[in-house]
Order: sequence, then C-alpha cells, then structure tokens
Amino acid sequence: MKNFASLLGNKNKFLILGCGFSGSFFAKTVRKFGCTALTSSRSEKKDPNNFIFDSENGKIPNKKIFDGVTHILSCIPPDKNGKDPVLESLQNTLKTLSLEWIGYLSTTGVYGNTEGDWVSEIDQPNPYQKRSFNRLNCEKEWIKSGLPVQIFRLPGIYGPGRSTFEAIKNQKIRVISKKNQVFSRIHVADITNAIIYLLQNKDSLKFHQVINIADDEPCSQIEVINYCYSLLGLRMPKPVNFENAKKELSPIAQSFWMENRRVSNKLLCETLGYKLIYKNYKMGLKNCFLNL
Ligand SMILES: NC(=O)c1ccc[n+]([C@@H]2O[C@H](COP(=O)([O-])OP(=O)(O)OC[C@H]3O[C@@H](n4cnc5c(N)ncnc54)[C@H](OP(=O)(O)O)[C@@H]3O)[C@@H](O)[C@H]2O)c1
Repeated sequence: MKNFASLLGNKNKFLILGCGFSGSFFAKTVRKFGCTALTSSRSEKKDPNNFIFDSENGKIPNKKIFDGVTHILSCIPPDKNGKDPVLESLQNTLKTLSLEWIGYLSTTGVYGNTEGDWVSEIDQPNPYQKRSFNRLNCEKEWIKSGLPVQIFRLPGIYGPGRSTFEAIKNQKIRVISKKNQVFSRIHVADITNAIIYLLQNKDSLKFHQVINIADDEPCSQIEVINYCYSLLGLRMPKPVNFENAKKELSPIAQSFWMENRRVSNKLLCETLGYKLIYKNYKMGLKNCFLNL
C-alpha cells in the first residue's frame, strides 16, 4: 500500500469513536502509516491515545481532544433508545470542526430479509428487526446532519481473536442447518483497508455516500464451521436442524437466522476498484488460524 500518511498529509488527525474490534484494527493500521489516531472507549484504558466517551453516562470528551481533528470514524452502534450516541452527544462540537471526512460503520441488517437474493446499495433498505430500523434511522440522521459522512454497511465481522475458532475453543459452537440459508461476512482487515483505499483515492474516485463492504462469497454457517474444524484437524459435530436448535438460541441469535441475504460488493470492488485481501471465508479463516 502507498504511504497513507503522506497521501493524506501529515497534519491529519483521526478520532476513532468506539475502539472495539473494528475501531482498534483501524487505529492500529493508520498509526503504522504515521497518522495520529486517538480512540475512545467507555472505560479507562492504559493507552495514552485513548480517551473516555460514554454517551449513556454523560461522559463527554474534553474539547481539547477535538483540536486539529480532520477525520472521524464512528464504530458505535445505536444506544438503547435507538439514537446515535455520537450525534446525540457530539453533533454540535463536530459542526465547529474543519472535518474532511466522517466514516460511519453501519450494518447490512438495514436491507432486511431478501430470502437469499443479492442486495446492493441501490436497493431500498427494508429493515425487519427493530435494531435495523434504529440503524437505518441513525444513517438518516447522519446524512441529515450535513456533516461530511460516508456510510459503510457491514455484514458479520470476523478476524483474528473473533471468529468461529474462538466459538469452537469456548465450546459456544452450534452447528445448525437451515436449508438455503446463507450469511455474508467481512474480515476486519478488509474494512480498514477498503476505507483507507477510498481515502487515498478520493480525488480520482466518484464519491458514494453509502458503500457495502463484504467479501465475494456469502455461504452457509456450516461450510464455515466445517472448514474451521478441518483446519484444526478435528471432526465437526453433527448438525442440528434449525427448528430443533431454535428453542435453545438467545433471541438475538434467533433473529440472525430470520434474515437471509447475499450482500453485493460490486460497487466497492468493481466500480471503485478495491481489491479484497480476503475474498472468501477460506482465505480469511486461514489468516485467523495462523494467528491462533
Ligand atoms: N460485529 C459484527 O459482526 C457487526 C456486523 C455489522 C455491523 N456491525 C456494527 O459495526 C460497528 C463496529 O462493530 P464492532 O463489532 O467492531 O464493534 P464493537 O467491537 O462492539 O465496538 C463498539 C464500540 O462502541 C463503543 N460504544 C458502545 N456504546 C457506546 C456509547 N453509548 N457511547 C460511547 N461508546 C459506545 C464500545 O465501547 P467499549 O470499548 O467501552 O465497549 C466499543 O468501543 C458497530 O456499530 C456494530 O454494531 C457489527
């Protein structure tokens, strides 16, 4: 990859709001390129680059944190009232800054259930779950804010430290079969790299406000689990039919099985020319396996 810091200019400063799984990967990567990146979490961390932001407990960052900020990535989901924590607490502050760009990590849940059909950015969102209605409202609020936001819709995120391997290791794995059911996924490194690619090439690429970041091969959970067991040299437990497994699943786990869609990455990978690092679950899981 080209030198990100020099392409963006050394005076750029990133704030990563919500330094969880995706946020910390992004922060780590942009720092490798020489950029300044401050991150937020809800509780104290030893990291001197981390500050506290907790919208639900009124813990708002000191104004100094925002000095010279040019880029923001928000990785924070809607709060318990369905509102966007960043817009609820920080919108006025953000409007006083000379921001070049804000990235907002959203979900492909806004597309709802397509019974296995492909969905792309030109399809009207059709949320099915309450949390997806909330998410779509947050996307709309971001657009309405007039801030320079770009929205990234993500399917299931995995990567080293958060993958089927951990579920197997922690004995949380459930091998469930449901006919014709598929899920889309994305490796955490491709979220970061796709965003960096778009920022690096922003002068030559047409701006799109909403972009899906997904890999090339939606597939069943069983294929993924089976592949993990084969890499581990173990035999996969016998699958349980969804109807029988359902009653033991938490409401949130059940809700994931209620939606079936294939998320298209054509805008990102064909129109905009991003090349995935991990085109499919096999490539991505090999990387997770090597980092176990
Ligand atoms: N996980 C998935 O498979 C998936 C799929 C599609 C979309 N998404 C969405 O993509 C985004 C990034 O996902 P992720 O899995 O990387 O997220 P994650 O690891 O769960 O991190 C979420 C971050 O948001 C912070 N946060 C939560 N509520 C907050 C509040 N009220 N005020 C301030 N900070 C708050 C958390 O703080 P702490 O660090 O203190 O906990 C954490 O840093 C999220 O919006 C997520 O919903 C996730």
